[in-house]
Amino acid sequence: MAKRIAVVPGDGIGKEVIAAALDVIRAAGAPVAFTEFDWSADRYLKDGTTLPGYADGAGFRKLENDFDAIFVGALGDPRVPDNRHARDILLGTRFELDLYVNYRPVRLLDDRLCPLKNRTRDHVNFVVFRENTEGLYVGAGGRMRPDTEEEIAVQEEINTYKGVHRIVRYAFEFARQRGLTRVCMADKSNAMTHGHALWQRVFKEVAPDYPSIEATHLYIDALAMLLVQTPERFDVIVTNNLFGDIITDIGAALQGGLGMAASGNIHPGRTSMFEPVHGSAPPLAGKNVANPIGAILSAALMLETLGRAEDAQRIEQAVEAAVHAGETTQDIGGPLGTSEAGAAILRRL
Ligand SMILES: NC(=O)c1ccc[n+]([C@@H]2O[C@H](COP(=O)([O-])OP(=O)(O)OC[C@H]3O[C@@H](n4cnc5c(N)ncnc54)[C@H](O)[C@@H]3O)[C@@H](O)[C@H]2O)c1
Repeated sequence: MAKRIAVVPGDGIGKEVIAAALDVIRAAGAPVAFTEFDWSADRYLKDGTTLPGYADGAGFRKLENDFDAIFVGALGDPRVPDNRHARDILLGTRFELDLYVNYRPVRLLDDRLCPLKNRTRDHVNFVVFRENTEGLYVGAGGRMRPDTEEEIAVQEEINTYKGVHRIVRYAFEFARQRGLTRVCMADKSNAMTHGHALWQRVFKEVAPDYPSIEATHLYIDALAMLLVQTPERFDVIVTNNLFGDIITDIGAALQGGLGMAASGNIHPGRTSMFEPVHGSAPPLAGKNVANPIGAILSAALMLETLGRAEDAQRIEQAVEAAVHAGETTQDIGGPLGTSEAGAAILRRL
Protein backbone atom coordinates (compact mmCIF):
# COMPACT_ATOMS: atom_id res chain seq x y z
CA MET A 1 0.00 0.00 0.00
CA ALA A 2 1.25 3.48 -0.83
CA LYS A 3 2.71 5.39 2.10
CA ARG A 4 0.79 8.62 2.68
CA ILE A 5 3.09 11.59 3.04
CA ALA A 6 2.05 15.10 4.10
CA VAL A 7 4.35 17.57 2.35
CA VAL A 8 4.95 21.08 3.72
CA PRO A 9 7.40 22.92 1.45
CA GLY A 10 7.10 26.01 3.70
CA ASP A 11 9.10 29.18 3.11
CA GLY A 12 12.09 30.39 1.15
CA ILE A 13 14.40 27.69 -0.16
CA GLY A 14 12.14 25.07 1.46
CA LYS A 15 9.96 25.11 -1.64
CA GLU A 16 12.90 24.56 -4.00
CA VAL A 17 14.65 21.80 -2.08
CA ILE A 18 11.38 19.92 -1.48
CA ALA A 19 10.56 19.98 -5.20
CA ALA A 20 13.92 18.35 -5.93
CA ALA A 21 13.48 15.80 -3.13
CA LEU A 22 9.96 14.77 -4.25
CA ASP A 23 11.32 13.97 -7.73
CA VAL A 24 13.96 11.77 -6.14
CA ILE A 25 11.44 9.91 -3.96
CA ARG A 26 9.26 9.25 -7.02
CA ALA A 27 12.25 8.03 -9.02
CA ALA A 28 13.35 5.73 -6.21
CA GLY A 29 10.18 3.77 -6.92
CA ALA A 30 8.73 3.66 -3.42
CA PRO A 31 4.92 3.58 -3.52
CA VAL A 32 3.99 6.95 -2.00
CA ALA A 33 1.06 9.35 -2.16
CA PHE A 34 1.92 12.98 -1.53
CA THR A 35 -0.54 15.53 -0.16
CA GLU A 36 0.88 19.03 -0.29
CA PHE A 37 -0.04 21.72 2.27
CA ASP A 38 0.52 25.44 1.85
CA TRP A 39 1.36 26.13 5.50
CA SER A 40 3.86 28.96 5.30
CA ALA A 41 4.44 32.65 5.94
CA ASP A 42 2.42 33.45 2.79
CA ARG A 43 -0.59 31.59 4.13
CA TYR A 44 -0.23 33.09 7.60
CA LEU A 45 -0.01 36.62 6.22
CA LYS A 46 -2.97 35.98 3.95
CA ASP A 47 -5.50 34.57 6.41
CA GLY A 48 -3.81 34.23 9.81
CA THR A 49 -3.65 30.41 9.63
CA THR A 50 -0.47 28.72 10.84
CA LEU A 51 -1.52 25.08 10.91
CA PRO A 52 -5.24 24.57 10.38
CA GLY A 53 -6.71 23.04 13.53
CA TYR A 54 -3.82 24.23 15.67
CA ALA A 55 -5.92 25.68 18.47
CA ASP A 56 -7.98 22.59 19.30
CA GLY A 57 -5.35 20.07 18.21
CA ALA A 58 -7.54 18.70 15.37
CA GLY A 59 -4.84 19.57 12.81
CA PHE A 60 -2.31 17.42 14.62
CA ARG A 61 -4.73 14.52 15.01
CA LYS A 62 -5.35 14.71 11.25
CA LEU A 63 -1.62 14.50 10.59
CA GLU A 64 -1.37 11.48 12.89
CA ASN A 65 -4.40 9.67 11.54
CA ASP A 66 -4.24 10.41 7.83
CA PHE A 67 -0.51 10.22 7.14
CA ASP A 68 2.41 7.84 7.60
CA ALA A 69 5.02 10.63 7.54
CA ILE A 70 5.42 14.39 7.24
CA PHE A 71 8.04 15.97 4.99
CA VAL A 72 8.93 19.62 5.63
CA GLY A 73 11.17 22.04 3.73
CA ALA A 74 11.84 25.00 6.02
CA LEU A 75 9.85 27.63 7.88
CA GLY A 76 10.87 31.19 8.65
CA ASP A 77 10.32 34.50 6.93
CA PRO A 78 11.51 38.02 7.77
CA ARG A 79 7.92 39.25 7.27
CA VAL A 80 6.93 37.27 10.38
CA PRO A 81 9.45 38.58 12.91
CA ASP A 82 8.19 36.52 15.84
CA ASN A 83 8.23 33.33 13.74
CA ARG A 84 4.77 32.46 14.99
CA HIS A 85 3.83 30.25 12.05
CA ALA A 86 7.12 28.36 12.17
CA ARG A 87 6.72 27.74 15.88
CA ASP A 88 3.16 26.47 15.54
CA ILE A 89 3.95 24.20 12.62
CA LEU A 90 7.38 22.82 13.51
CA LEU A 91 7.52 22.91 17.31
CA GLY A 92 3.75 22.25 17.41
CA THR A 93 4.14 19.05 15.40
CA ARG A 94 7.18 17.92 17.38
CA PHE A 95 5.37 18.40 20.68
CA GLU A 96 1.83 17.38 19.73
CA LEU A 97 2.89 14.22 17.92
CA ASP A 98 5.38 13.54 20.72
CA LEU A 99 8.28 13.19 18.26
CA TYR A 100 10.85 12.79 21.00
CA VAL A 101 13.78 11.60 18.91
CA ASN A 102 15.57 14.19 16.82
CA TYR A 103 17.84 12.01 14.69
CA ARG A 104 20.69 13.76 12.92
CA PRO A 105 23.27 11.65 11.14
CA VAL A 106 26.58 13.38 10.43
CA ARG A 107 28.47 11.65 7.64
CA LEU A 108 31.11 13.21 5.42
CA LEU A 109 30.42 12.16 1.82
CA ASP A 110 33.63 13.42 0.25
CA ASP A 111 36.98 14.29 1.91
CA ARG A 112 37.21 17.62 0.14
CA LEU A 113 34.05 18.88 1.85
CA CYS A 114 35.51 18.62 5.36
CA PRO A 115 36.75 21.96 6.73
CA LEU A 116 39.15 20.21 9.13
CA LYS A 117 42.84 19.62 8.39
CA ASN A 118 43.85 15.99 7.85
CA ARG A 119 40.37 14.62 8.36
CA THR A 120 38.67 12.28 5.92
CA ARG A 121 35.48 10.29 5.53
CA ASP A 122 36.90 7.81 8.04
CA HIS A 123 36.89 10.51 10.71
CA VAL A 124 33.44 12.05 10.32
CA ASN A 125 30.68 9.51 10.73
CA PHE A 126 28.48 9.74 13.80
CA VAL A 127 24.87 10.38 14.78
CA VAL A 128 23.35 12.82 17.24
CA PHE A 129 20.16 12.12 19.14
CA ARG A 130 18.69 15.36 20.38
CA GLU A 131 15.83 15.25 22.88
CA ASN A 132 13.01 16.91 20.96
CA THR A 133 10.05 17.55 23.26
CA GLU A 134 11.44 19.11 26.45
CA GLY A 135 14.33 21.27 27.60
CA LEU A 136 14.42 24.98 26.99
CA TYR A 137 12.12 24.76 23.96
CA VAL A 138 8.82 24.12 25.74
CA GLY A 139 8.18 27.84 26.15
CA ALA A 140 7.98 27.81 29.96
CA GLY A 141 8.76 31.13 31.58
CA GLY A 142 7.75 34.71 31.12
CA ARG A 143 8.73 38.35 31.01
CA MET A 144 8.01 40.91 33.68
CA ARG A 145 8.05 44.60 32.88
CA PRO A 146 8.90 43.95 29.23
CA ASP A 147 10.67 46.60 27.19
CA THR A 148 11.77 48.54 30.26
CA GLU A 149 15.11 48.75 32.00
CA GLU A 150 13.53 46.75 34.82
CA GLU A 151 12.76 43.80 32.56
CA ILE A 152 13.12 40.30 33.97
CA ALA A 153 13.00 37.40 31.50
CA VAL A 154 12.80 33.81 32.65
CA GLN A 155 13.13 30.80 30.33
CA GLU A 156 12.77 27.51 32.13
CA GLU A 157 14.29 24.20 31.16
CA ILE A 158 12.05 21.18 31.61
CA ASN A 159 13.64 17.76 32.10
CA THR A 160 11.48 14.80 33.06
CA TYR A 161 12.57 11.31 34.00
CA LYS A 162 10.36 9.88 31.26
CA GLY A 163 11.67 12.29 28.63
CA VAL A 164 15.34 11.82 29.41
CA HIS A 165 15.03 8.08 29.86
CA ARG A 166 13.38 7.42 26.50
CA ILE A 167 15.93 9.39 24.45
CA VAL A 168 18.90 7.88 26.28
CA ARG A 169 17.42 4.41 25.83
CA TYR A 170 16.80 5.10 22.14
CA ALA A 171 20.44 6.13 21.66
CA PHE A 172 21.75 2.93 23.23
CA GLU A 173 19.29 0.76 21.30
CA PHE A 174 20.31 2.43 18.05
CA ALA A 175 23.99 1.77 18.84
CA ARG A 176 23.26 -1.87 19.67
CA GLN A 177 21.23 -2.46 16.54
CA ARG A 178 23.86 -0.87 14.28
CA GLY A 179 26.83 -2.54 15.97
CA LEU A 180 28.21 0.80 17.15
CA THR A 181 30.36 0.64 20.26
CA ARG A 182 30.38 4.15 21.76
CA VAL A 183 27.61 6.32 23.20
CA CYS A 184 28.48 9.74 24.62
CA MET A 185 26.03 11.79 26.69
CA ALA A 186 26.62 15.53 26.86
CA ASP A 187 25.17 17.91 29.44
CA LYS A 188 26.25 20.79 31.64
CA SER A 189 25.67 19.10 34.98
CA ASN A 190 28.56 20.98 36.60
CA ALA A 191 26.61 24.24 36.26
CA MET A 192 23.00 23.16 35.70
CA THR A 193 22.92 21.14 38.86
CA HIS A 194 19.22 20.27 38.98
CA GLY A 195 18.07 19.42 35.46
CA HIS A 196 21.28 17.87 34.32
CA ALA A 197 21.72 15.84 37.48
CA LEU A 198 18.68 14.00 36.13
CA TRP A 199 20.52 13.34 32.85
CA GLN A 200 23.46 11.98 34.88
CA ARG A 201 21.21 9.73 36.92
CA VAL A 202 19.40 8.31 33.90
CA PHE A 203 22.57 7.76 31.87
CA LYS A 204 24.15 5.83 34.76
CA GLU A 205 20.96 3.82 35.12
CA VAL A 206 20.63 2.84 31.44
CA ALA A 207 24.28 2.33 30.40
CA PRO A 208 24.86 -0.90 32.40
CA ASP A 209 22.16 -2.59 30.28
CA TYR A 210 24.60 -2.32 27.35
CA PRO A 211 27.88 -3.78 28.64
CA SER A 212 29.42 -4.05 25.16
CA ILE A 213 28.93 -0.32 24.53
CA GLU A 214 31.41 2.17 25.91
CA ALA A 215 29.34 4.86 27.68
CA THR A 216 31.08 8.18 28.18
CA HIS A 217 30.05 11.59 29.43
CA LEU A 218 31.25 15.04 28.35
CA TYR A 219 30.27 18.52 29.34
CA ILE A 220 28.77 20.20 26.31
CA ASP A 221 31.61 22.73 25.98
CA ALA A 222 34.16 19.92 25.89
CA LEU A 223 32.06 18.09 23.31
CA ALA A 224 31.96 21.18 21.09
CA MET A 225 35.76 21.33 21.19
CA LEU A 226 36.32 17.62 20.60
CA LEU A 227 33.88 17.49 17.68
CA VAL A 228 36.24 19.87 15.90
CA GLN A 229 39.51 18.34 17.13
CA THR A 230 38.75 14.62 16.95
CA PRO A 231 35.32 13.86 15.45
CA GLU A 232 36.47 10.27 14.92
CA ARG A 233 36.07 9.53 18.61
CA PHE A 234 32.26 9.61 18.33
CA ASP A 235 29.68 7.05 17.15
CA VAL A 236 26.49 8.11 18.95
CA ILE A 237 25.90 11.33 20.88
CA VAL A 238 22.81 11.96 23.00
CA THR A 239 21.94 15.32 24.48
CA ASN A 240 19.17 17.76 25.28
CA ASN A 241 17.11 19.95 22.97
CA LEU A 242 19.20 23.13 23.00
CA PHE A 243 22.64 21.53 23.04
CA GLY A 244 21.58 19.17 20.26
CA ASP A 245 20.40 22.09 18.17
CA ILE A 246 23.78 23.77 18.49
CA ILE A 247 26.15 20.84 18.07
CA THR A 248 24.34 19.51 15.03
CA ASP A 249 25.22 22.75 13.25
CA ILE A 250 28.85 21.92 14.06
CA GLY A 251 28.06 18.50 12.62
CA ALA A 252 26.62 20.09 9.48
CA ALA A 253 29.80 22.15 9.08
CA LEU A 254 31.90 18.97 9.31
CA GLN A 255 29.80 17.50 6.47
CA GLY A 256 30.32 20.46 4.17
CA GLY A 257 27.68 22.91 5.38
CA LEU A 258 24.05 23.30 6.32
CA GLY A 259 22.92 22.31 2.85
CA MET A 260 24.17 18.75 3.45
CA ALA A 261 22.49 17.92 6.76
CA ALA A 262 19.38 15.74 7.18
CA SER A 263 17.12 15.07 10.13
CA GLY A 264 14.20 13.05 11.37
CA ASN A 265 11.77 13.90 14.19
CA ILE A 266 10.67 10.47 15.25
CA HIS A 267 8.30 8.68 17.58
CA PRO A 268 9.01 5.01 16.87
CA GLY A 269 6.03 3.35 15.23
CA ARG A 270 4.07 6.57 14.77
CA THR A 271 3.74 9.29 12.14
CA SER A 272 7.10 11.08 12.14
CA MET A 273 8.43 14.22 10.51
CA PHE A 274 11.51 14.64 8.31
CA GLU A 275 13.24 17.87 7.33
CA PRO A 276 16.61 19.22 6.30
CA VAL A 277 18.51 20.84 9.19
CA HIS A 278 18.81 24.18 7.42
CA GLY A 279 16.28 27.00 7.54
CA SER A 280 14.57 28.98 4.81
CA ALA A 281 17.74 30.99 3.94
CA PRO A 282 15.84 34.08 2.71
CA PRO A 283 18.83 35.56 0.82
CA LEU A 284 19.00 32.43 -1.35
CA ALA A 285 15.27 31.96 -1.91
CA GLY A 286 13.93 31.84 -5.45
CA LYS A 287 17.39 31.91 -7.02
CA ASN A 288 17.80 28.21 -7.76
CA VAL A 289 21.03 28.10 -5.74
CA ALA A 290 20.07 26.17 -2.59
CA ASN A 291 21.66 22.79 -2.07
CA PRO A 292 18.91 20.12 -2.21
CA ILE A 293 21.04 17.37 -0.64
CA GLY A 294 19.92 17.95 2.98
CA ALA A 295 16.31 17.59 1.85
CA ILE A 296 17.06 14.57 -0.35
CA LEU A 297 18.93 12.79 2.45
CA SER A 298 16.03 13.61 4.79
CA ALA A 299 13.73 11.93 2.26
CA ALA A 300 16.01 8.88 2.43
CA LEU A 301 15.72 8.85 6.25
CA MET A 302 11.96 9.04 5.85
CA LEU A 303 11.86 6.08 3.45
CA GLU A 304 14.14 4.08 5.74
CA THR A 305 11.80 4.74 8.67
CA LEU A 306 8.83 3.73 6.50
CA GLY A 307 10.46 0.34 5.92
CA ARG A 308 12.03 1.13 2.53
CA ALA A 309 15.69 0.79 3.56
CA GLU A 310 16.80 -0.33 0.09
CA ASP A 311 15.28 2.73 -1.60
CA ALA A 312 16.94 4.90 1.04
CA GLN A 313 20.28 3.29 0.40
CA ARG A 314 20.01 3.78 -3.36
CA ILE A 315 19.22 7.46 -2.83
CA GLU A 316 22.23 7.86 -0.55
CA GLN A 317 24.46 6.16 -3.11
CA ALA A 318 23.16 8.41 -5.89
CA VAL A 319 23.81 11.51 -3.76
CA GLU A 320 27.30 10.31 -2.95
CA ALA A 321 28.09 9.63 -6.60
CA ALA A 322 26.87 13.07 -7.67
CA VAL A 323 28.97 14.68 -4.92
CA HIS A 324 32.07 12.71 -5.99
CA ALA A 325 31.51 13.82 -9.59
CA GLY A 326 31.27 17.45 -8.46
CA GLU A 327 27.76 17.74 -9.92
CA THR A 328 26.47 19.87 -7.08
CA THR A 329 25.44 23.38 -6.08
CA GLN A 330 27.98 26.12 -5.44
CA ASP A 331 27.97 25.97 -1.63
CA ILE A 332 29.93 22.72 -1.91
CA GLY A 333 32.02 23.74 -4.87
CA GLY A 334 29.92 22.65 -7.84
CA PRO A 335 28.64 24.68 -10.80
CA LEU A 336 24.94 23.69 -10.70
CA GLY A 337 21.64 25.19 -9.62
CA THR A 338 19.18 23.47 -7.26
CA SER A 339 17.14 21.77 -9.96
CA GLU A 340 20.20 20.71 -11.99
CA ALA A 341 21.89 19.29 -8.88
CA GLY A 342 18.65 17.38 -8.16
CA ALA A 343 18.64 16.11 -11.76
CA ALA A 344 22.24 14.90 -11.39
CA ILE A 345 21.12 12.73 -8.46
CA LEU A 346 18.01 11.57 -10.36
CA ARG A 347 20.11 10.40 -13.32
CA ARG A 348 22.21 8.24 -11.02
CA LEU A 349 19.15 6.68 -9.45
N1 LIG B 1 13.77 23.82 10.61
C1 LIG B 1 13.56 25.01 10.07
O1 LIG B 1 12.64 25.21 9.31
C2 LIG B 1 14.51 26.12 10.40
C3 LIG B 1 15.81 25.87 10.87
C4 LIG B 1 16.67 26.95 11.07
C5 LIG B 1 16.23 28.24 10.81
N2 LIG B 1 14.95 28.45 10.38
C6 LIG B 1 14.47 29.77 10.01
O2 LIG B 1 14.99 30.09 8.73
C7 LIG B 1 15.21 31.50 8.63
C8 LIG B 1 16.66 31.77 8.25
O3 LIG B 1 17.50 31.32 9.31
P1 LIG B 1 19.08 31.32 9.28
O4 LIG B 1 19.55 32.27 8.23
O5 LIG B 1 19.56 31.45 10.66
O6 LIG B 1 19.48 29.82 8.86
P2 LIG B 1 19.43 29.11 7.42
O7 LIG B 1 19.75 27.67 7.64
O8 LIG B 1 18.18 29.40 6.73
O9 LIG B 1 20.61 29.78 6.57
C9 LIG B 1 21.89 30.10 7.08
C10 LIG B 1 22.86 30.14 5.92
O10 LIG B 1 23.27 28.80 5.63
C11 LIG B 1 23.42 28.62 4.24
N3 LIG B 1 22.45 27.59 3.80
C12 LIG B 1 21.42 27.08 4.51
N4 LIG B 1 20.79 26.16 3.81
C13 LIG B 1 21.43 26.07 2.62
C14 LIG B 1 21.25 25.27 1.46
N5 LIG B 1 20.27 24.35 1.37
N6 LIG B 1 22.08 25.47 0.41
C15 LIG B 1 23.07 26.35 0.49
N7 LIG B 1 23.31 27.11 1.56
C16 LIG B 1 22.50 26.97 2.61
C17 LIG B 1 23.16 29.95 3.59
O11 LIG B 1 24.38 30.62 3.45
C18 LIG B 1 22.28 30.65 4.60
O12 LIG B 1 22.34 32.02 4.46
C19 LIG B 1 14.81 32.08 9.99
O13 LIG B 1 13.49 32.53 9.90
C20 LIG B 1 14.90 30.89 10.92
O14 LIG B 1 14.06 31.01 12.04
C21 LIG B 1 14.10 27.42 10.15
